[in-house]
Amino acid sequence: MRLLDGNALRDAILADIAAELAGVTDPPRLVVVQVGADPASAVYVRNKMRACRTTGVRSEHRHLPAAVDQAELAAVLDALSADPAVHGLLLQLPLPAHLDADDAMRHVDPEKDVDGFHPVNLGRLMAGLPGPRPCTPAGVLALLAKEGIAIRGREVVVVGRSLIVGKPLALLLLEKGGRGDATVTVCHSRTTDLAAHTRRADILVAAVGRPGAITAEMVKEGAVVVDVGINRIADPSSKRGYRLVGDVDFAAVAPRTSAITPVPGGVGAMTVAMLMSNTLDAWRRQSGRVEA
Ligand SMILES: NC(=O)c1ccc[n+]([C@@H]2O[C@H](COP(=O)([O-])OP(=O)(O)OC[C@H]3O[C@@H](n4cnc5c(N)ncnc54)[C@H](OP(=O)(O)O)[C@@H]3O)[C@@H](O)[C@H]2O)c1
Repeated sequence: MRLLDGNALRDAILADIAAELAGVTDPPRLVVVQVGADPASAVYVRNKMRACRTTGVRSEHRHLPAAVDQAELAAVLDALSADPAVHGLLLQLPLPAHLDADDAMRHVDPEKDVDGFHPVNLGRLMAGLPGPRPCTPAGVLALLAKEGIAIRGREVVVVGRSLIVGKPLALLLLEKGGRGDATVTVCHSRTTDLAAHTRRADILVAAVGRPGAITAEMVKEGAVVVDVGINRIADPSSKRGYRLVGDVDFAAVAPRTSAITPVPGGVGAMTVAMLMSNTLDAWRRQSGRVEA
């Protein structure tokens, strides 16, 4: 069994971006809009800001109060979308319950949508057209490619069908040619006999949001396991009072696999790297460095 090291690949990708931006007088500018004080979001935003500093991307954290209303949020996103000095615009999710994320996303200019969540960009993904790809699924594919793990023709089972992970990942895996060409099964909470599906997987991706969702009996001997889950569990021995675990029962599953991603240090690291890569692409297009 080998560990698929997302941290190492993230560092290499960020170093490449930093090298490209060294000496550039008008580097990309990324604005992250956060509403309220979701504790997990605070950590994610901090990591994104740190990656910006590492790469030389200028960043701004626009932190709005939890009580902001839909129209105020839309006005902030409209203004940033219209600002030519902003190349990347990201709305940190989840939003407080009184806000409609789908409506808010429509106020992000699709050309600045570095998360790839705008309906126009999800449509481009569906159609196989170029465009920003959602960062976590793109990170999964980049990590597998870097590690020389072939996807073409293989049985890939994705557990989870969210719009930010499961669904876009399934579409990327299905794409004809390139990094796709997998035979894809997508499972969810209404799937009957989940283990019967997961046991067929050459590559099993867990994006469930529940610790221990994938147990050893659910994994074929020699499979590759990608754990997208990031879950906090109480840990009084830790300074923070919690620790992060994935969706996979790592200790029991890892010995059965040929390769597995750790949590942390696997897919989560790749998500940040893909965000910086999408930001660089958006800047290149908007500043005329490549054709729009
Ligand atoms: N590594 C990263 O950078 C990154 C990025 C994003 C998310 N995450 C993590 O990935 C996990 C999933 O995130 P998400 O946003 O996709 O979560 P989500 O929106 O809550 O989706 C979870 C999916 O899992 C399915 N599911 C729940 N219980 C199940 C069960 N018992 N059996 C089979 N399927 C089940 C749900 O099915 P239904 O559709 O039927 O409800 C849903 O499709 C979370 O731990 C999250 O923190 C990590």
